[in-house]
Amino acid sequence: MANDRVVEVKELTKRFGELTILEKISLVVHRAENLVVFGRSGQGKSVLLKCIIGLMNPTEGKIFINREDISKLSIKNLNKVRKNIGFLFQGSALYDSMTVRENLSFTLKRHSPQLNSKEIEDKVVQTLHLVSLADAVDKMPSELSGGMKKRIGLARSIIIDPELMLYDEPTTGLDPISSKEISQLILNLQKKLNMTSIIVTHDLICAEIIADRAIFLKDAKIAFEGSIQELTDSDNSFLRNFFSHEIIKETGV
Ligand SMILES: Nc1ncnc2c1ncn2[C@@H]1O[C@H](COP(=O)(O)OP(=O)(O)O)[C@@H](O)[C@H]1O
Ligand SMILES: [Mg+2]
Repeated sequence: MANDRVVEVKELTKRFGELTILEKISLVVHRAENLVVFGRSGQGKSVLLKCIIGLMNPTEGKIFINREDISKLSIKNLNKVRKNIGFLFQGSALYDSMTVRENLSFTLKRHSPQLNSKEIEDKVVQTLHLVSLADAVDKMPSELSGGMKKRIGLARSIIIDPELMLYDEPTTGLDPISSKEISQLILNLQKKLNMTSIIVTHDLICAEIIADRAIFLKDAKIAFEGSIQELTDSDNSFLRNFFSHEIIKETGV
């Protein structure tokens, strides 16, 4: 159904000077679907996310969010669309000088200035429960482990009740156990909150937990698309090579 299309990318081309990073990429992400984007470093995965959220303009092509062409929107209306999008980017660190409560309430207040302090406090507590870290409400970021920081970062992204979540390498830098936990959490949130997500990752274990469908970016194009099973079972030598490296990294074999 057309109204099921939360994100639609149509023939997106992105160039930086002479360099073509993405060339005529088209994809659709349906409501409550988790799409994983694979690709080696430098293949334009982060650029794709930035175009989808309107932080970068396509050189050619169009992005539709809930069937609205975002290039046609005024700043005011683009900001409205963005209010329904959460993102967890690699650099999105917590504010070190604020407690967990302050980190979360700061984001929520900025997003929803009409809320009173009781409503904000309730939402902070409720969101921390979703990531199983209600106990950490008064902690400073420096008191948290890497995995906990990621979970708080995730809580901060979802406290605005986004309809669409964009994740850029959500498990990078985590040990395999924390990485599995965060992936499981992303999956649970999608189920509980009916969120639509695009997840950029190198991490095959994360993708196996989360993905309904995956695409693989290579040489500015979507080189492969399918289920994780289809990608990992493929006899394409490029894919075999990519996934065998990932498996070696993860298992240490
Ligand atoms: N703002 C920018 N200006 C110029 N080149 C950029 C910019 N952002 C990204 N690039 C280039 O685009 C390519 C893809 O980057 P990126 O999307 O970050 O790759 P990745 O797949 O690792 O996320 C890289 O070669 C990068 O140097
Ligand atoms: Mg990147």
